Amino acid sequence: MLWFLACCSYLFGTLFDTTNRHHNFKVLAVDYDGGIVGNALRGAYQQLEGPAFFTMELHTPSEYPTEEDMYRAVYKGKYWGSIAAATGASGKLAAAIQGGDAATNYNASDALHYTWNQQRYTSFSQSVIQAGMQQLVGATEIVYNHLNGTQAAQSLNRTDSAAVQALLHPIAATATNIKYAPFGAVILLNTVAMAMPILQQFFFLLVLNGVLAQHKLYTKMTVRSSLLVRRVAGILYTLGAALCQTGYFWAFKEGWDVNGAQFVLTWMTFWLLMHIHLLILDSISTVAPLPVMPFVVILWVFLNLGSTLSPLEIQAGFYHWGICLPSHNAYSVLVTIWTGGADNLLYRALPIMFAWWIVANITTSLTHWRACHIAYKQEQETHPDGTTTSVKDEEAAVGASGDEMLSRHTTLQRQRTIGEAIADQREAYGPSIPPLV
Ligand SMILES: *[C@@H]1O[C@H](CO)[C@@H](O)[C@H](O)[C@H]1NC(C)=O
Ligand SMILES: *[C@@H]1O[C@H](CO)[C@@H](O)[C@H](O)[C@H]1NC(C)=O
Ligand SMILES: *[C@@H]1O[C@H](CO)[C@@H](O)[C@H](O)[C@H]1NC(C)=O
Repeated sequence: MLWFLACCSYLFGTLFDTTNRHHNFKVLAVDYDGGIVGNALRGAYQQLEGPAFFTMELHTPSEYPTEEDMYRAVYKGKYWGSIAAATGASGKLAAAIQGGDAATNYNASDALHYTWNQQRYTSFSQSVIQAGMQQLVGATEIVYNHLNGTQAAQSLNRTDSAAVQALLHPIAATATNIKYAPFGAVILLNTVAMAMPILQQFFFLLVLNGVLAQHKLYTKMTVRSSLLVRRVAGILYTLGAALCQTGYFWAFKEGWDVNGAQFVLTWMTFWLLMHIHLLILDSISTVAPLPVMPFVVILWVFLNLGSTLSPLEIQAGFYHWGICLPSHNAYSVLVTIWTGGADNLLYRALPIMFAWWIVANITTSLTHWRACHIAYKQEQETHPDGTTTSVKDEEAAVGASGDEMLSRHTTLQRQRTIGEAIADQREAYGPSIPPLV
C-alpha cells in the first residue's frame, strides 16, 4: 500500500500544477508586417500573457529574415511553435476594406501564420500550443477592432460585400503542422506504451530464470557460456518484442504518415530500450531477494513513465533528473524518427542510452558471475563427492522410511533440508516461472 502510494504520488506529482507552468513553453514571434496587424498581435499577447499561457518571444525580422527561418527554429526544437504577422498584412487589409479587387482577393488567413509540431508530446502541443495559438489569433482580431475598428468602418466600401466581409472578419491564421499525428492511439505512445517494455522484460526474465534453474545450467556450463546463453536469449527476445511493439504502433496508425525506414528505426530504438530494461532488471533480480522484485519493477515503471508523460519543462525542478532515464531519451529519439528529423536531441539521447546499455551489460555480467559462483558452491556443498543427485533425490529421501532417512543423514553429514536447498537455488537463479517449490 505504502509503496504504491509513494510511486503514484511521484507520478501524479509530475503533473501537479502544470497549468501554471505553461509559460515555460517558448514560442517564437516575428512581426514582418510592422503595421496595425503586428501591433494587434502584440496587444493580444499582452492580454493573454500569464503562467497558464505560453511565452511569446518577440524577435526582429533581422534575426529571422524569413518565415522559413522561423520554421527551422521550431523544427529544431528550439521553440514549441512560432507565429508571424505576414509581410504587408496591414496594407492588404486596409485595401480590402476599401473594396474592389483587393477585397475579392482578400483572405483573412494570410494575415498570421503559425507553426507547431503535433508529434512532440501530442496532448500538450494540442492543448497548450495549438489551442493557445487559436486563442491568440482570435484575440488579435478583437484587438485590431479595438485599435482601428472605427477608422476602418469609416473607410468601408458599403456596396462591396467582400469589403464588408473583410471588415467583419479581418484577421485569421494559416497553421503549419510540422508532423500530423491525427490518430487516437497517439496519446498512448508516451504513456502506456512506455510502461509495457519494462513489464514485458520482467515476465521474460522469470521464464528465462525458470528454464535455466530447471536444467541447472549454471553448474553444467562455464560462466562464460551460460552468460552467452542468457545474453543471446535476451537479445533475440527483445528484438522480437520490439518488433511486436512497433507492429501494433503501425497497426493502429490510421492516417499517420510514416514509412518503412521509420518502421525499422522505431523497431531498433525499442530494441535498444527493451534490452536496457532487461539488463537492468536482470542485474537487480540476481542480487536482490525475490520479494523485492515486484516493487523494483513498479518503481522502475513509474520513474520512467514520469519522465515521458509530460515535457520536463513543465514538471517541477525536482523531476528534471528524469532527463537521464532511458525511456525519456527513447521517446526523444522516437519523436525525431517520426517527424523525420525534427526536435533532434540525438547528440544527447543516444549517448545516454548507450551509457545505460554498457553499464547494465557490465553489472549483469558481474551479477551473473556471482550467481554462477553461488550455484557452483551449492553444488559442492550438496554433493561434495561429485555425485549428481538432484532435488528430486532429496525428495525421494524425505518420502522414504524414517530408518533409511536417518542413515542417509548420518552418511551425508552436510545434508540440508529441501527448503534450504531451494532457497539457495533461488539465490543463484533469481525469481522464476515456474517457481522453485
Ligand atoms: C486603420 O484602418 C484604415 C482602413 O482600413 C487604414 O487606412 C489605416 O491605415 C489604419 N490605421 C493604422 C494605424 O494602420
Ligand atoms: C466600392 O466597390 C464597388 C464594387 O466592388 C466598386 O465598383 C466601387 O468603385 C468601390 N468604391 C470605391 C470608392 O472604391
Ligand atoms: C484562404 O487561405 C487558406 C490558406 O491558404 C485556404 O485554405 C483558404 O481556402 C483560403 N480561403 C479562401 C476563401 O480562399
